[in-house]
Amino acid sequence: MKKIVIDPITRIEGHLRAEIEIDENNIVKEAYVSGQLFRGIEIILKGRDPRDAGLLAGRICGVCTNVHFRAAVSAVEDAYGIDNPVNSEIIRDLMALALFIQDHVIHFYHLHLLDFVDVTKALEADPKLTSKTGHKYSSRPYANSHAHYIDVKEKLHKFVKAGKLGLFSNGYWGHKAYKLSAEENLLLLSHYLEAMKFQSNISRAIAIFGAKTPHPQTIVVGGVTSVADMLNPQRLNDFIFIIKEAKEFIDRAYLPDVKLITQAYRDDIKSGIGSSVGNFLCVGGYKFDKGDQLFEDGIIYGHNLNDIKPFDESKITEEVERAWYKDDQPYYTDLNEDGTLKTARSDDKYSWIKAPRYDGQTMECGPLARVLVSYQKGNKFIKPFVDEFLSDCDLELMDLSTTVGRNAARAIESAYIGEYLFKFINNLVENIKYYDTDTWTKYQFETLPKKAKGRAFSEVPRGVLSHFVNIEDQKIKNYQVIAPTTWNASPKDGKDQRGPYEEALVGIKLEDPSKPLEVLRVLHSFDPCLACAVHVIDLKGKDLGEYKMNADCSI
Ligand code: NI
Repeated sequence: MKKIVIDPITRIEGHLRAEIEIDENNIVKEAYVSGQLFRGIEIILKGRDPRDAGLLAGRICGVCTNVHFRAAVSAVEDAYGIDNPVNSEIIRDLMALALFIQDHVIHFYHLHLLDFVDVTKALEADPKLTSKTGHKYSSRPYANSHAHYIDVKEKLHKFVKAGKLGLFSNGYWGHKAYKLSAEENLLLLSHYLEAMKFQSNISRAIAIFGAKTPHPQTIVVGGVTSVADMLNPQRLNDFIFIIKEAKEFIDRAYLPDVKLITQAYRDDIKSGIGSSVGNFLCVGGYKFDKGDQLFEDGIIYGHNLNDIKPFDESKITEEVERAWYKDDQPYYTDLNEDGTLKTARSDDKYSWIKAPRYDGQTMECGPLARVLVSYQKGNKFIKPFVDEFLSDCDLELMDLSTTVGRNAARAIESAYIGEYLFKFINNLVENIKYYDTDTWTKYQFETLPKKAKGRAFSEVPRGVLSHFVNIEDQKIKNYQVIAPTTWNASPKDGKDQRGPYEEALVGIKLEDPSKPLEVLRVLHSFDPCLACAVHVIDLKGKDLGEYKMNADCSI
């Protein structure tokens, strides 16, 4: 058995390390995935005014920025029993959903694509043929002119001529696991560049209601402060315009590109590469009409798609058997006496990430969980998006539970959100038209209960996010977060159950152990966000079941 350490893995947001053990056939037999960065935002939150929780918790992550901001405010509202007006909830949803599509596009093109695309091979592409390739996956391919591809190719040549690939350096170029043709590589790289404009435009959209992004400022306990923006038709139109443009990019570039990858890596899908534990967790949410919402809640065990259990928050527990905590304090044990880093062992702690479990079991959350649960629970809105993708790519629903399938689920979800975002905007416009312009619920802070506990569960781009707040004397006594990456990048637990990342790695075969491209592919398909993942455990607050589910909570 040979051990390989890959460190760091993530391209942004935090520090992920993977240690794998491979046999003589280069097949992964065991994996240890570790969060190597300590954050401790909860410590900063202790003793603070609960009304400041959102602004501070927003700093947990620069990528998942508005989701922590919102979750913290919602948890405080839940604790105090404050209902925020429907318009403020729509504005929060608009910012959150715009972030979904921004995150997904950034993930696919800028954080993950180069695991599938060989930059150097694109230099051999014929621009004319590339334009033809574009038509294979879309009836209206994005920026698909012959001249455009000549231009992109020239840009790439300049990088190479200068002796440096710039942002494309350090790839495993020429690796045998790259399967795309020269033209397919060039097509996807051209969209890589276009996606940069996309991400800056969506930031502008979020800033319309958030004042700025990352780290918007406008969500407050009781509502939102972006009143003038909501009432200004020009601001609303600007938002709509950007989302329409974004939708064009998703439908004409992102979704077709994911179909292309899906076809090219079909063998990987059919052999189940990157499939994880088969347990999925989704808390649902994003209501846009009476009883109608974007995502359904539910739990899937062991890939049994026909028996979806309802989500029950009292079944969530956390443990730190294999994480660097002792009692409720950080307890780092990873250094050898000479100061070098230890490699993970089967009987030791090896990560800053805690191990959340549902009903004692490891759970995968994220776009794949949302798509599987919502589709199987009969959500009629998501159904056509899933059906169309599966039929175009000749796949079954179960095939999505793989590395490439996770990307497919993310793209399907983006197309779906891109379309239904307009329902949320219309609801807001309708309310304003009929003189419902409330954005804030008044309350007297001094008269609120001295002691209160609250929590907020929500679906955010990478999966299930939960914030828990414990207030005493109108100060935050304890604060806890379980972020999507905490679930997915979880280490093993006391029963030695692997986390989803680890489980997805076991069984894959490496073409060349000195260039573990296949490992990167599997891990990146979950869209790791390590800054989000690491949170201090608070054993005193471990009984998460104490918090009662509130149907009106902004989830
Ligand atoms: Ni994050």
